[in-house]
Amino acid sequence: MSTPLILRDPASARRWTLEHQASARRVALVPTMGALHRGHLALVDVARSHADHVIVSIFVNPTQFNRAEDFDSYPRVIDDDLAICAEHGVDAVYLPAAEAMYPSGFDTRIEPGSIASRWEGEHRAGHFSGVATVVIKLLNACAPDVAVFGAKDLQQLTVIRRTVTDLDLGVDIVAGDTIRESDGLAMSSRNRRLDSVARQRALAIHRGLLAAVACANAGHGPDAIERAARDLIDPAADDVEYVAVVDSATFERSPTMIDGCGYSVIVAAWFGGVRLIDNMALPRSA
Ligand code: PAJ
Repeated sequence: MSTPLILRDPASARRWTLEHQASARRVALVPTMGALHRGHLALVDVARSHADHVIVSIFVNPTQFNRAEDFDSYPRVIDDDLAICAEHGVDAVYLPAAEAMYPSGFDTRIEPGSIASRWEGEHRAGHFSGVATVVIKLLNACAPDVAVFGAKDLQQLTVIRRTVTDLDLGVDIVAGDTIRESDGLAMSSRNRRLDSVARQRALAIHRGLLAAVACANAGHGPDAIERAARDLIDPAADDVEYVAVVDSATFERSPTMIDGCGYSVIVAAWFGGVRLIDNMALPRSA
């Protein structure tokens, strides 16, 4: 177990990567906001399968939080995170201070387009602009060959792919599968804030998603699939922001499903004061 190198500003992060790339070694970046769990570590494993060296970034990005309470209560456990990175063989951690990320006078934002306007974008004003801006900054600072993101945040992954393509960043974006607890709850840093009653109720999300997949397997369309998920999620949640069948590439709600195209069912709901999101790919027919 060796301690990862800690890099605190864009210039040292870029120098670290360039040194490796100069000797033809590939670097993979896993961007995170810390409070690391097995979902993040699975992304580190994916990163390692694509590169010789792995850098994890840890930065709780203020510009992507639309509610100050959510930013303030976001778990910050940097000593634990660094120990986990060391145990997991992470080579470097990019740990910028807020002033290194957003120095005084900072005045630029990336504004992603239509994909970002729906669902998460609609319920969290400015969220994807904050995500896209910080991700572009992390990619520029760390200059990796490949960056890994989780399918748990499917709309985020899709927005990032679009932004990276549109801005010609030339970084490979790789997706990692959603990692779940043994009872089906998708791992999330926010799960730490669920009390035991809310956590139990939150299992309805996974059950609802499984019901949606079963309904799609039985040949039903979006309305019936959404109803199957809602029948389980609505009674358990304090509030359900959306349950929708969407085209996985555009995030448009799909009134019908065309054979051979990719669709997902996406959910956002509140349990005991904690907002959770999850999704599952629907089976393709033909
Ligand atoms: P964070 O929520 O810390 O997540 C970091 C990465 O881990 C994201 O790519 C997310 O999709 C992935 N992830 C989270 N839970 C997962 C799970 N259960 N299984 C697999 N992957 C999972 O997402 C962010 O941070 C931020 O928006 C960020 C991209 C770092 C920009 O600030």
